[in-house]
Amino acid sequence: MAAQSGQYAQAYQRSVTDPQGFWAEQAHLIEWETPPQQVLDDSNPPFSRWYVGGKTNLCHNAVDRHLKTRANQAALIFISTETNEEVTYTFAQLHEEVVKMAAIYQKLGVKKGDRVLIYMPMIAQASFAMLACARIGAIHSVVFGGFASVSLASRIEDAKPSLIVSADAGMRSGKVVEYKPLLDEAIRLSSHKPTHVLMVDRGLANAPVTPDRDVDYATLKSSVAGVDVPVTWLDATDTSYILYTSGTTGKPKGVQRDVGGYAVALTYSMKSIFCGEAGETFFSTSDIGWVVGHSYIIYGPLLAGMATIMYEGTPLRPDAGIWWSIVEKYKVTGMFSAPTAVRVLKKQDPALLKKYDLSSLKALFLAGEPLDEPTGRWISESLGVPIVDNYWQTETGWPMLAVQRGLEALPSKFGSPGVPVTGFNIKIVSETTNEECAPNEKGVLAIMGPLPPGCMQTIWGDDERFVKTYWSSFANIQAYSTFDWGMRDAEGYHFILGRTDDVINVAGHRLGTREIEESISSHANVAEVAVVGVADALKGQVAVAFAIIKQVSAVQTPAERAALEAEIMKVVDNQLGAVARPARVHFVSLLPKTRSGKLLRRSIQAVCEGRDPGDLTTIEDPAALQQIKDCLAG
Ligand code: PRX
Repeated sequence: MAAQSGQYAQAYQRSVTDPQGFWAEQAHLIEWETPPQQVLDDSNPPFSRWYVGGKTNLCHNAVDRHLKTRANQAALIFISTETNEEVTYTFAQLHEEVVKMAAIYQKLGVKKGDRVLIYMPMIAQASFAMLACARIGAIHSVVFGGFASVSLASRIEDAKPSLIVSADAGMRSGKVVEYKPLLDEAIRLSSHKPTHVLMVDRGLANAPVTPDRDVDYATLKSSVAGVDVPVTWLDATDTSYILYTSGTTGKPKGVQRDVGGYAVALTYSMKSIFCGEAGETFFSTSDIGWVVGHSYIIYGPLLAGMATIMYEGTPLRPDAGIWWSIVEKYKVTGMFSAPTAVRVLKKQDPALLKKYDLSSLKALFLAGEPLDEPTGRWISESLGVPIVDNYWQTETGWPMLAVQRGLEALPSKFGSPGVPVTGFNIKIVSETTNEECAPNEKGVLAIMGPLPPGCMQTIWGDDERFVKTYWSSFANIQAYSTFDWGMRDAEGYHFILGRTDDVINVAGHRLGTREIEESISSHANVAEVAVVGVADALKGQVAVAFAIIKQVSAVQTPAERAALEAEIMKVVDNQLGAVARPARVHFVSLLPKTRSGKLLRRSIQAVCEGRDPGDLTTIEDPAALQQIKDCLAG
């Protein structure tokens, strides 16, 4: 087997047979105030504690550490094609900004272990806000700026932040998107209230002010001039952040991550997967509200001593060459994006790709959703650099399948994110026998415990849910379920074949169909609803809803149906955000269910995608599925 002979195979074998030895070596990649006494405490599985006894700090390793060697080199490059701003912060300047933000936090009474919720657009202050938490041991919880008040409220309720950091507005495609009214509404909806709301005023919108609670960033910043805030040394096993993600229930899960393991894992990944060297520039087009933004806009590149680009804007404005012009201007060496963005760019004028000097670029990394072969081929041929598909989850924090080009440039295969990353003991497990599947046999992609450093510690405030959700899928084996179907070929390359649960992936954004259903159900005229993810050529998947209406007389004409459909979409926009808005809302009088009342979501999805609906022996009333077909035909 090609994947079994060289550097990669050796490193991989070692990482799974002697994880403690392997990760003890990688620990030297970061600086410790006190080195760890024990590499792994696995005495209470599935809760693994990495680098026990070690004291370190993410902000120290991402910022302060580099002051000795590269204080005047670029660290953070903020580019907004919306407000036409472009600011480069050197490591020294980034340090100064982060210290000031940390001083503001302290002035507002934020202490180690307190939660700080960050609801911000892609501006430099958002990165100061995250790094300042890391500096003083406060736990950040970044909420994607595209989420609206109900999504935000459930996260405030769960994380109980003492401080929320926000801004008056963001901008998208030339339009101002106000943040403060949504935030105020979320705080109103939540039973937990933050002590303070720290507002960055960009001068884009007139944000309402709640006296005593809301404080102004610029005013406080001038009041802390000259205040030094040294790094707080944290236990490696302390919590660095919470990041909410969708699952099978409507209640989002707070993925909780540590300090030391995350710092080591990310630094290792920058070297072994992303081939990043200190002094180079990394451009990840994600958003700080997602895990890719945490790991590969903020922490990963900075830990590696690289400059990182924070970009506010779309890939198409002022024209579809904007990303490539950034690559040329800042000599970007590594770029990270999602297949959807590439599919969008593929529809544009190909001359825009040829217009810029892209010779600095070493590779393009794509993740978040399946990379289809035509898209992969097109971008690979257009850029002439390796395209590195990598597969992972919010829960793992860094890639678990990829070709680790920093170890060995194994060939890639279109349609496959590659082979297991060092540290991840991955098996494809049969759902029925719980045995490992043979090559080319479909099963559930699972990770044998213990999870490597950098992965989730638990679900915030709910250890039991962590065990029940992730570690209870297979009898007799201690394995973490990814809830993705997968397959491994004879050469060890893996293929991802869709989710086993009700999570959908719209343009690389992970959403729970249950959350969307709950939102739609809050409309006064909706009795019941089913939401499924349906294949889409551009976005990968889109949400499609089938709703039973209480007052059927209100939706007799096509115009009435269209009006109600628009109204329901608006409910989702207002509660969850436009990112969760279904592409269509169809009206039915019956939903396909089993005789015990379980929604047959898979069958609905299959029908929507023109596939066979599968085993229907348990269906209560076959007429329900016919109604779905009729909706789609009509
Ligand atoms: O279904 C898989 C899909 O995205 C899910 C994780 O989404 P999220 O938690 O938002 O983390 C994204 C981190 C990149 C996975 O369970 N997914 C992610 N990467 C890939 C993928 N599906 C196919 N190929 C990938 N490369």
